Amino acid sequence: MHHDYDSQRQYTLQHDRRLSAGSGHLQCEGVDLPALAAEFGSPLFVYSAPEIRRNIAEIQQAFASHANTRICYASKACSLLAVLQVVRATGISIEANSANEIRRCLAAGFAGNEIVYNGVVKRDEELEFAIRQQLHAINVDSEQELLAIDRISRQLQTPVRICLRVEPNVRAATHEGLMTAFRAKSGVDLADAERICRQVAAMPHVRLCGLHMHVGDQVPDAEPFAAATRVLVETARRLESTLNIRFDMINVGGGIPTPYRYASDRGLGGPDNMQPAIGAAEFADAVIRAVHAWRQDIEICIEPGRKVVGSAAVLLTGLVSGKRKTLLNEDGSVEGQVDWRMLDAGFNAIPDYKDWYFYVYNASRITDSHNQPVKLGGPLCDGGDYFRHGPLGEQFLLPEASAVGDVLAFLDVGAYQLENQTVYNAQPRSAAVLIEDAGHYRLIRRQERFDDMLLLERDLA
Ligand SMILES: Cc1ncc(COP(=O)(O)O)c(C=O)c1O
Repeated sequence: MHHDYDSQRQYTLQHDRRLSAGSGHLQCEGVDLPALAAEFGSPLFVYSAPEIRRNIAEIQQAFASHANTRICYASKACSLLAVLQVVRATGISIEANSANEIRRCLAAGFAGNEIVYNGVVKRDEELEFAIRQQLHAINVDSEQELLAIDRISRQLQTPVRICLRVEPNVRAATHEGLMTAFRAKSGVDLADAERICRQVAAMPHVRLCGLHMHVGDQVPDAEPFAAATRVLVETARRLESTLNIRFDMINVGGGIPTPYRYASDRGLGGPDNMQPAIGAAEFADAVIRAVHAWRQDIEICIEPGRKVVGSAAVLLTGLVSGKRKTLLNEDGSVEGQVDWRMLDAGFNAIPDYKDWYFYVYNASRITDSHNQPVKLGGPLCDGGDYFRHGPLGEQFLLPEASAVGDVLAFLDVGAYQLENQTVYNAQPRSAAVLIEDAGHYRLIRRQERFDDMLLLERDLA
């Protein structure tokens, strides 16, 4: 097991397109990571623009056989302006999940007609804002929302393009909370789709462009995408003929997984959704095959988030202290020892850590054998604020010489981590750096200051 963790580390250093070793330090795109932590402090997210571009190119390549594909990056995965600008420069479109996310997309330079808008809760003022922006499509989540869109578009005398989100009733082998096409809160029942769509004919400003779904996030195999797309296509076909309408798009959502345990990793566990069996190509094949059985020319819209940015960031965290503790039984007998290493990042900085596997390496000693079992604790008061999924269950492996002041790197933290950060225990939200091209980097978000934390209470206390 120790051997497997080490051989995977060595394999990564030799073959990974982002990471390498230089002078015993971990580098990303040729930039020394411990040096970045020294310059900007920690915890620090380091995003790689080249990796974002490579991931997008992979998705584009996967859909090369369907020219009329619109890739909408799901900005919820990471909506830092500089990251959105990297995405925009590739020419793809974008997805937003609130009016404020739409505002972020606009601020990054996206045009209204490059944005699709999702969400189970869209307040009137959000819908009004969205309709004014003339978005590519609003994905309607309920009959009530459709009625609100009709009302607001009449008030504004403004056309609005919509897709109806349905639930295709397909399970996916991902985390329970990440399944969104089976007994989920999103979308409408298939059985209600016809009744809801029929009403659009009497809505003067509303254009029904297609159907929408989202199977789930980090879905490890292709079959749920194939099955759900078949359901969406069948439903669209039926609606077109019974309502005498013609759709111009089909939106199959996101969910392309990214590997958190790499295919080359022969350690324990998996394959599960941490070591997925598919990538963008298999997702595309499943979707395109099902759509082409219906129509070759229709716009296929996809909303990948995790696949675009997941592999594009590492989190650097400082090793602040360490201690040995005895694992006692209730009767006072000794069960063993625990070697605790305390980090300046806990679940405030990486909220997914309870369910998620991340490779953790000592970036300051990356070429040393990682063979010392340790537990990794975060800075929060909660007893539960320690990392759960290491190569040895709750234990991780670090070099024996690891010392206070070293910088650890958590890999593949680009999606949903920084977005979900909390300020619990008055821990500041992290800074972020973007590596633009090999060797060049800049700060794209500074660390939160104490003053920022008081901003919402200023003059009110
Ligand atoms: C409607 C919708 N589209 C796209 C996504 C992005 O999913 P992923 O990051 O797995 O690609 C989500 C994620 O929650 C979603 O709810």
